[in-house]
Amino acid sequence: MTDPNQTPSSTPEYQIGYGSALRSEARPGALPTDQNAPKRAPYGLFAEQINGTGFTVERAHNLRVWLYRLRPAIHDRPFARMTAGEAPPHFSGDFSEAVSTPEVQRYQPLALASGGSTDWLDGVQTFAGAGDPRIRRGMAIHLFTADADMQRVFANIDGDLLLAPEHGRLHIRTELGRLEVGPGEVAILPRGIRFQITLPEGPVRGFASELFDGHYLLPERGLIGANGLADERHFEAPVAEYEDVAEDTVIVVKQGGVFWQTTAPNSPFDVVAWHGSYAPFKYDLRKFMSYGSVSWDHPDPSVLTVLTCPMDGNTRGSGRNAVDVGVFMPRWDPTEHTFRPPYFHRNSAIEFNAVIQTPRTKGAYPSGAFSFTPYLTPHGVSHVGHAAGVEAPDEPRKTSTGDIWLQFESTYSLGVLPRWLGSERRDGEFLQNFTGYAEGELTS
Ligand SMILES: [Fe+2]
Repeated sequence: MTDPNQTPSSTPEYQIGYGSALRSEARPGALPTDQNAPKRAPYGLFAEQINGTGFTVERAHNLRVWLYRLRPAIHDRPFARMTAGEAPPHFSGDFSEAVSTPEVQRYQPLALASGGSTDWLDGVQTFAGAGDPRIRRGMAIHLFTADADMQRVFANIDGDLLLAPEHGRLHIRTELGRLEVGPGEVAILPRGIRFQITLPEGPVRGFASELFDGHYLLPERGLIGANGLADERHFEAPVAEYEDVAEDTVIVVKQGGVFWQTTAPNSPFDVVAWHGSYAPFKYDLRKFMSYGSVSWDHPDPSVLTVLTCPMDGNTRGSGRNAVDVGVFMPRWDPTEHTFRPPYFHRNSAIEFNAVIQTPRTKGAYPSGAFSFTPYLTPHGVSHVGHAAGVEAPDEPRKTSTGDIWLQFESTYSLGVLPRWLGSERRDGEFLQNFTGYAEGELTS
């Protein structure tokens, strides 16, 4: 049994099963067993439901959670809109000035936060986006760096967040319990659930995607069969853990791209029990089972999809996805008579690639670097990479030795916020990789 006023410093406990009907209680009998809203809930707790989907969506896609808490989340203190000086300075939901350029871009890592005053919320820096959270269409890509624990609590009404730390660890306390993720892991935080991030190992840096509609789903396996890719049992959800603290707590909400705050009279982390499928999760990308060709040519990178979300939220099969979260892990390439590096291509999607881990200490792609390829924009390997690919022997070879690259693909034509296009983090020499190719020889 979890101690009722435990200070959350120990390693979190988890339960497993993405999309499962999960249940957890921090006090015996706190979870009603036969109904959701008894006249008097056990221990006099308040029952509160959070719907992640519309009431009548197909049962397979319905997400909801019932919370049993010491006090209702509603209270009598109004929210006030945060001024420009109070709101997180670079966490944006406005893409009216975002620019969709026709060329590939590469960026060097963000400088780690320093000075000890930047919490995760102030440390979010929106990179690109499309759509509008007010009409529940679109998505955004963010970077973050922070070096201070959040003393406040945040709820993102606008979208589900997927956080991928590249440096340092995120300790995420949510209404449903605690998660902790480090480099190579991701955290999925459904919209509307309140959370607070602290930094057990100091400064952090990482990447995030935000879905304004729908939720992160496991892709169908199709002809692959019943196994492989990301497995439901490798996704970990929190267990209920609560505190009974009647002290003022600042709660910040992002709603319609606007930040609001109030001071609640108590901690929102007072959920003693819960059940449902609308929950935060963590996943270790190293548990992803990669697929690839064992004969010749390349499969499409969609075989490396960890999580996905269709553009319209729930209807699969169009191939037009608001986001595909892919991972490129070390894996074997045994293909014969095949140009093994990524072939030159243009995709009907944007591609955002981020280096989460690399054993290399030199080169243009250190850990934390990232690139952006706009919609249907030509891209491929450099002339050096092309020459090496043409000459490479056919013997089986491991594609890397310790790299983890994360990819966000989106059918939305995301634009980059102007502050990035001319920033010092952008690699102005990047395009020079794409000259000097040995040209085709019609006479050979
Ligand atoms: Fe690509």
